[in-house]
Amino acid sequence: MRVDVVTVFPDYLAALDLSLIGKARQAGLLDLRVHDLRDWTTDRHRTVDDTPFGGGAGMVMRPDVWGTALDDVLGEDGHLVIPTPSGEVFTQRHAEALATEQHLVFACGRYEGIDARVAEHYRAAGRRVSELSIGDYVLNGGEVATLVMVEAVGRLLPGVVGNPESLVEESHGAAGLLEYPVYTKPPVWDEHEIPEVLLSGHHAKIARWRRDRALERTAARRPDMIAALDVAGLDKHDVAK
Ligand code: ADE
Repeated sequence: MRVDVVTVFPDYLAALDLSLIGKARQAGLLDLRVHDLRDWTTDRHRTVDDTPFGGGAGMVMRPDVWGTALDDVLGEDGHLVIPTPSGEVFTQRHAEALATEQHLVFACGRYEGIDARVAEHYRAAGRRVSELSIGDYVLNGGEVATLVMVEAVGRLLPGVVGNPESLVEESHGAAGLLEYPVYTKPPVWDEHEIPEVLLSGHHAKIARWRRDRALERTAARRPDMIAALDVAGLDKHDVAK
């Protein structure tokens, strides 16, 4: 997959050199390039923003600078992703859909955001444009949201996570439940023992125990996810809480 990120703070994206995503880049699974938006400015001050029409606080990013940058970076098939707190909330479903794309271009806004004509222009030109929020809070810009989305998408690319089984049972997966609690050695730590069933070697019992804990956790922490469960997917041993 090819991913381009356009930002006024290229250094923010340095974290994508690390860990699994960094390895995926080295292995050629992810071709990630970070661009400085100011390279597309034409004035001495390298201006990317201006005051909002209609008044109000803060600055808005200029559509002309973004337009020349995105015309260069989007190529034939780029799917434009604009992180913004006013976007649809990014979920694992968005990550899965974006992971099937050949080319993503993240446009990181700062200040009060990017002039709204930019998203409209590329939509009208027949481009896929996704305006996505990573949650109901406001960040200073799209860079951290881009880090989040590139990691969530990148780990779904074939070969990035060593053991693809670890993608199967995780929180926000197909089961629609949060993941069950996990334990490792030592079996007793500071007088805390691990649940005995996990030492039983009885696979069916362990699976049942894990599903009960996943249901319990989801009911306590995310009642909205319980409400959205597909009843057809429930097991006859699943109890209503
Ligand atoms: N930019 C500022 N806040 C954001 C958020 N919550 N999600 C995505 N982009 C943002």
